[in-house]
Amino acid sequence: MNELSGKHIVLGLTGGIACYKAAELCRALVKEGATVQVVMTAAAQQFITPVTMQALSGRAVVDSQWDAREPNNMAHINLSREADAILVAPCSADFMAKLLHGSADELLSLLCLARPIDRVPLLLAPAMNREMWAHPATQRNVAQLRADGATVLDVGQGEQACGETGDGRMLEAEELLADLIAFFSAKTLLGQHVLVTAGPTYEAIDPVRGITNLSSGKMGFAIARAAREAGATVELVAGPVSLATPRGVTRHDVRSARDMLSATLALAHDATVFVATAAVADWRPATSAEHKIKKDGSGQAPELCFVENPDILATVAKMPRALRGDLFCVGFAAESQDLLANARAKRLRKGVPLLVGNIGPATFGQDDNALLLVDERGSQELPHASKRLLARQLIADIARRLATRGQTYHHSP
Ligand code: C5P
Repeated sequence: MNELSGKHIVLGLTGGIACYKAAELCRALVKEGATVQVVMTAAAQQFITPVTMQALSGRAVVDSQWDAREPNNMAHINLSREADAILVAPCSADFMAKLLHGSADELLSLLCLARPIDRVPLLLAPAMNREMWAHPATQRNVAQLRADGATVLDVGQGEQACGETGDGRMLEAEELLADLIAFFSAKTLLGQHVLVTAGPTYEAIDPVRGITNLSSGKMGFAIARAAREAGATVELVAGPVSLATPRGVTRHDVRSARDMLSATLALAHDATVFVATAAVADWRPATSAEHKIKKDGSGQAPELCFVENPDILATVAKMPRALRGDLFCVGFAAESQDLLANARAKRLRKGVPLLVGNIGPATFGQDDNALLLVDERGSQELPHASKRLLARQLIADIARRLATRGQTYHHSP
């Protein structure tokens, strides 16, 4: 999925060791379909050469306001008006101080000042030593730059090039990419609190064995990411999966269905939307042995008895209104056949307004899927696509339902 296709990004580099990450970032932006114009300060060129950035962006780097290649000799005007966004990464403490004062004595600060402020967003990815980041002057500048309309991105935490450990590292290229994609996303769920369950559960037989299923969690994680990009606060209750937590999402790792139920119930009363994508085990062993069950030499396999697990979605959806408020519940159905009939029946059984059907064996572990949205009026297909795209479509659909529900509510007597 070319998530930045059609976007033109001016990527500014200022002086800092994090310039090495800007090379990776440039590559990632181009890979996502953006065109990238790199602008470097003289200090940035102490850390990485324009040759590298030209090769990665496919365009000559610009580093001077006196660049005679510009026919009108106004690089600062031309560059800032073409851009869909200006991203300064790394942004040094010194460069933030310059921006704050409207100083414009070299091309990058000049074009930031000259940008049409209402149309061309400015994003800054700070990178500096932890003392420099914590200094009141820097924090004052960050606050003022935000008040002036710039988006100052987070800093990373950890070991720094200087050998110290703390806040102030530039975010990794993939984190910056995710932040930029989120920045361009429509904020259709602003103010909403979205709770997502994802992945399989694991039901222990003994300390070393258990039963689980083939759910990868990819669909649920993609939904959590899309909800976050749409501006929601997102809590993700995840069964045992090895997926990276989407940026800005709070993750709660659980193992069994009962763990998942208690984590979900603890979070449900603050949520406004609940999307249950988890493939919760329907049954668990009636008892879990304290020690590993051993072969006893008789050739007889141990007998396992199962009991039914709590239904998390139905429990939440059927909570009294006083407890769950206006919570909008969305269920999933992983079926192997008769998708529409099964999804319809499941929607009623679970007591949810929206049930999303998919063919389980075809999608478990894959990066793509196809969805069937079933509500009280009928059904709608979201045709085969990446889980990432489907998640965005589903989130947009949920946002429309919430908005319409609001209107109905306000207009009803
Ligand atoms: O009944 P079935 O497992 O097919 O229902 C699927 C839907 O119900 C999914 O949304 C799933 O996350 C949810 N579910 C649940 N707790 C269970 C079983 C299913 O939340 N114990």
